[in-house]
This record gives sequence, C-alpha cells and structure tokens, in this order.
Amino acid sequence: MIPTYTLNDGRTIPAIGFGTYPLKGDDGVDAVVSALEVGYRLIDTAVSYENEREVGEALRRSGVPREELFVTSKLPGRHHGYDDAVASTKESLDRLGLDYLDLHLIHWPNPSVGKYPEAWRALVDLQRDGLVRSIGVSNFTEVHLRRVIDETGVVPAVNQLELHPYFPQVGMRAVNQGLGILTESWSPLGKRQAPFTEPPVAAAAEAHGVDPGQVILRWQVQLRCIPIPKSATPERQRSNLDVFGFELTSDEVDAITALGREDGRLFDGDPDTHEEL
Ligand SMILES: NC(=O)c1ccc[n+]([C@@H]2O[C@H](COP(=O)([O-])OP(=O)(O)OC[C@H]3O[C@@H](n4cnc5c(N)ncnc54)[C@H](OP(=O)(O)O)[C@@H]3O)[C@@H](O)[C@H]2O)c1
Repeated sequence: MIPTYTLNDGRTIPAIGFGTYPLKGDDGVDAVVSALEVGYRLIDTAVSYENEREVGEALRRSGVPREELFVTSKLPGRHHGYDDAVASTKESLDRLGLDYLDLHLIHWPNPSVGKYPEAWRALVDLQRDGLVRSIGVSNFTEVHLRRVIDETGVVPAVNQLELHPYFPQVGMRAVNQGLGILTESWSPLGKRQAPFTEPPVAAAAEAHGVDPGQVILRWQVQLRCIPIPKSATPERQRSNLDVFGFELTSDEVDAITALGREDGRLFDGDPDTHEEL
C-alpha cells in the first residue's frame, strides 16, 4: 500500500506518483499500463504532453477501479482565460475518458500574460461544480501563490515544482509548507543530470542495500514531497515505487540536500520569468 497525505481540502493523495512525459503512442499506453500494474495510482499528465488519450486508454486497459486512481492533468498557458480554462478542462476529461480529475494544476503562471488569477478562478469554479476534485498550481513562486490566494481566498492544494538533489527548493518548500500547500516534485531524479553517482547518494545506497534512484526518491519522501518519477522500464518503475521499506538518517537527508547548486536547475520553462516555453 502506498502511504497518502491529506490535502488542505480534506482529500487524500498518494505519497508517490508516476510521470508520463514524454510517453506517447502504443509504447506510451504500454508504459502507463505497466506502471498501474506495478502499483502506481497517481498518474501525472498535462494538456501539453499531448498524451491524455494514451493515459485514458491505459487507465481503462488496466482495469483499476476509478476510485483507486488519482489522475492529475494541467492547464496550459494558452488556456488561462476563464472560458478557455473551463473548455480546456472539459476537453482534458473527454480525452482521458473521465468524469472528473482528481487534481488539476495551472501548469505555469506565465505572469507576462497575467491571466493566471483568472485561470485560478476557473479552477475554483470547476472544483465547486465537481469536474475537478482538488486544484493546484505548478511552477508558482510565493508572489504568484499569494496573488491567487488574496484574490479568491482559496489556497492551492499542491504546488508542483522542479525538485531534485541539485535543486532542492529549500525556500519554496518552506513557502508551500507555511501556506499549507503540499509540494510535488517534477524531474525528481534529476532527469539527464541524474545525481546517482554523487557520494552521499552512492553511500546511502550502499548503506541501505538499495539503488541510487531509490535513495533519491526516499529523500523526496522524507522531505514530505511527492515525487512523480517517469520510467518506461517496468523494472525501474517497480524499484522507484519501492521506497517505503527503509529510512534515511537525518544526516543522509541533509547531505543529499547539500548537493543543491546554483546551476542545478533543469527547467523546461524560463527560470526568471516563470513562463512556459
Ligand atoms: N510541472 C512541470 O512543469 C513539469 C515539468 C517536467 C516534468 N514534469 C512531470 O514530472 C515527471 C517526471 O519528470 P522527468 O521525466 O523530467 O524526470 P525524472 O522522472 O527525474 O527522470 C526520468 C528519466 O530518468 C530515467 N529513470 C527513471 N527511473 C530511473 C532509475 N531508477 N534509474 C535510472 N534512470 C531512471 C528515465 O528513463 P527510462 O524511462 O528509460 O527508465 C528517464 O529518462 C514528468 O514525466 C512529468 O509528468 C512536470
């Protein structure tokens, strides 16, 4: 059983999930079916990944009951106008073949366009109307968070951020926590720069008899962040999920956090302006 957290809206969310970018086509369906068979229940997609149909197909093919699934999608920057946001969400549901999303996120704030508060109002209404169970954001700074909270009184349940040992987001984790927002981690393994050979990671892997990916994902869990690793490989999907049977010491956690560095960010958006690319 995967542990869960309670969100600030009272709903529960699995403590680890499965990332689906860039899984597409028949291979993409197979990879998501495999992830569900291995035991993942939180599946992370987005309009921008152009794979909601594949994810929907995999959900149906897996036979996992709907109430056991936790499906997240994300609203792209081009759909931040109120009506566009509502229409976009309905289109996501249509592609996924679902009646509701468990979590819908604003993918990037795109502050130069300035419509993210409008997008947030649409999500608040979509939640009220039952099309979306929980609502949140992604790649939001404190300024963006405070603006949507001030304008609506509704605090996002989740802020999904780039977060891995080279970019441990010490400041934004504290901001999220202070506001009662759970942090989800994208590129939780560090993607291409995967810091698997860094001494604190390798040493902890040796000490606990696990692989380096498991150490990094366990570090995420002990930071109370929800990692959403992607793997097309069933063996890695399985090992990435198997992170609840050992515990890192606080020294091990701190040593991995200390790998954070100035140039550690991978970002697929603009790091300064928080615009989607
Ligand atoms: N909100 C946002 O703006 C945003 C941005 C980027 C990503 N995301 C989400 O976050 C998810 C995860 O991020 P990501 O895919 O960028 O990075 P990631 O999960 O950190 O890394 C994925 C890469 O690591 C490899 N890998 C996975 N498990 C491994 C293991 N145990 N050992 C060695 N290599 C392993 C995968 O290859 P194989 O497939 O070959 O195993 C893949 O190349 C995405 O799929 C997406 O859902 C969100």
